[in-house]
Amino acid sequence: MTASLAHQFSATVGTSLRERFVEIRQTTMRITAALSPEDQMLQSMPDASPSKWHLAHTTWFFETFVLLPHVPGYQAFDPHFQYLFNSYYKQLGSHPDRGSRGLMSRPSLERVHAYRSHVDAAILSLLDNAGDEARTLIELGLNHEQQHQELILTDIKHALWSSPLRPEPVPSEPSHVSALPLTFTEVEGGIHLIGHEGTGFAFDNESPRHEVLLRAFRIASRPITNGEYLEFMQDGGYRRPDLWLSDGWDKVCAEAWSAPLYWEREEDDPAAWSQFTLAGLQAVDSADPVCHLSYYEADAYARWRGCRLPTEEEWEVAAVRVPARGAFLEDTAVHPRPAGETPQMLGDVWEWTSSPYVAYPGFQPAEGLIGEYNGKFMVNQLVLRGGSCATPASHIRATYRNFFPPHARWQFSGLRLAK
Ligand SMILES: [Fe+2]
Repeated sequence: MTASLAHQFSATVGTSLRERFVEIRQTTMRITAALSPEDQMLQSMPDASPSKWHLAHTTWFFETFVLLPHVPGYQAFDPHFQYLFNSYYKQLGSHPDRGSRGLMSRPSLERVHAYRSHVDAAILSLLDNAGDEARTLIELGLNHEQQHQELILTDIKHALWSSPLRPEPVPSEPSHVSALPLTFTEVEGGIHLIGHEGTGFAFDNESPRHEVLLRAFRIASRPITNGEYLEFMQDGGYRRPDLWLSDGWDKVCAEAWSAPLYWEREEDDPAAWSQFTLAGLQAVDSADPVCHLSYYEADAYARWRGCRLPTEEEWEVAAVRVPARGAFLEDTAVHPRPAGETPQMLGDVWEWTSSPYVAYPGFQPAEGLIGEYNGKFMVNQLVLRGGSCATPASHIRATYRNFFPPHARWQFSGLRLAK
């Protein structure tokens, strides 16, 4: 497993791993600090997990994959947690149903915090003498935790939106920044290289790096804004079946979609829209990138504009030429904002691509348990690129492949046009 693991999950092996471990584990605690124990138990739908579960599960990952196999004599903090906080690793045996995570009134939040402290101390002790495989797994655990930091925010946003009181855990101010004009950049056709290379961390699904043949294409300089999306809505976009994929139109009808998730008409002005944010209900700012769209909505909008969504290959070829400009988790607003300059590819909103989430040519999952991390999800999902305002800046790169089913709307998901 050792050689295969190091090959599959490129590690950043260096003196900074300890500092990164402390910083990332503290960040998780920081983003949950404003939430009450009751908030942290909420599960508003099966796709979204309670914050307390995320705190425990990310800790379980370090205990299961690092401490138990690599620290002789390590005693699990609580043997029940091996079952309770396993997400989907079938080779470890059974685990609770995903939709029942909100029923875990026990262990208490206090005990989950104690679990985190126990595992943190053991990992820091191990780091004094950790071998390459353990360090690779700790790096993977940190990237896993950063993925869950974003999920903590998107999941609690859905939970608080579902609450009658509409709490506001993260204060923020409107940006008052205008969106820059939408332009298109031409990218030449031919053979291009995509996929991860180099020594920095990457998930296994970003490899192997390989050649792709692309026709010349044009790609937009920034994501679509709320104002541009409102034009689609005002033109009857949600009432025209000719604009929609069949599955998408069925969703529009079955769930009565008429706007992005979290949008609602203002009571005193039916022509105006508000949207629920982590800072509470706010007026929709026409300059902000539109978000909380399903793939179906992104696709219908592109069709309405006479354009299309980029493939993930096109997106990556364009993105490697552009520096990161957008807002990330560290920018505190946890809300997408207009780019101060364009082109803008990374940050603010994940961007739906038209590419199915499948293996790159030559992809082989790692052997053993850890091979369940990514590969087994390569069906019935679409790739999103670019990271969002809830993604840690150090977690994103041009080769990063996120994936969700086409109906998913609770992530910070928007779109970019291509031609
Ligand atoms: Fe996980």
